[in-house]
Amino acid sequence: MRIGIFDSGFGGLSIYRSIRARLPQYDYVYLGDNARTPYGNRSFDAIYRFSKECIDHLFAQDCKLVIIACNTASAKALRTLQQKAMPAEHPDRKVLGIIRPSAEALADYPRDRSVALWATEGTVKSGSFPMELEKLAPGLRLIQKACPLLVPLVEAGELSGAGIDHYLGKYWRETVAEGGQDIGALLLACTHYPLLYPRIRALVPPEIDILVQGDIVAPSLVDYLARHPEVEGALSRNGSQRFLTTDQTEGFDRLSEAFLGHPVASEKVEI
Ligand code: DGL
Repeated sequence: MRIGIFDSGFGGLSIYRSIRARLPQYDYVYLGDNARTPYGNRSFDAIYRFSKECIDHLFAQDCKLVIIACNTASAKALRTLQQKAMPAEHPDRKVLGIIRPSAEALADYPRDRSVALWATEGTVKSGSFPMELEKLAPGLRLIQKACPLLVPLVEAGELSGAGIDHYLGKYWRETVAEGGQDIGALLLACTHYPLLYPRIRALVPPEIDILVQGDIVAPSLVDYLARHPEVEGALSRNGSQRFLTTDQTEGFDRLSEAFLGHPVASEKVEI
């Protein structure tokens, strides 16, 4: 059986890239819901319905385990999936999100400083990160900043230049205005933002760590598989990968190269 990776579109490829680099032996199916992306400012109901349809499709492709490599879908759909749909419909499969391991990485920071994250409106409004951090590191101050313009800019290929620097500068100033001078770390809690890492690193003072989710989620999956031999033992090991998209393959193949560093040949699926 395979490992499924699901995202609202291309962004999850930034996380998949790190997962495959750490665990190249397994077989992967990536599904991007490009026809309905972005999820970032959609309602809870829409995100839950879209996510469930995509995850069901991945289970039908023989996935034992699905990683929701999308913050917005992890924030809004994971809990209901795990509590309701999974036990009723797929008791022998697993679905994991990326909020919990990312919150664990933030929870390691000392309580006398604050931590910040940048994400979509949907992730920020869901309150998922503060909820997890309250359990993991009560008292740790979190500044959440929604950066709604960054996903469309990345999807338009604007990874550098005056336009992107303008918006990054604005979001950073607003973050500092809220958090003061004691920010210890900035988590890029949206799948698209790692593509802007060089520009964000140039902007944010060097003493502030910038956390990228691929670096967090990949080791966390290694750890999960070591603790769950019933899942790991069911996984096949041919090193294969398939890329599925709900929209046109040409667009997917072109943009995915920016996320993966190599071209792919995707397949269109009807969900
Ligand atoms: N994948 C989404 C996330 O990480 C960003 C793109 C979208 O809004 O669909 O939140």
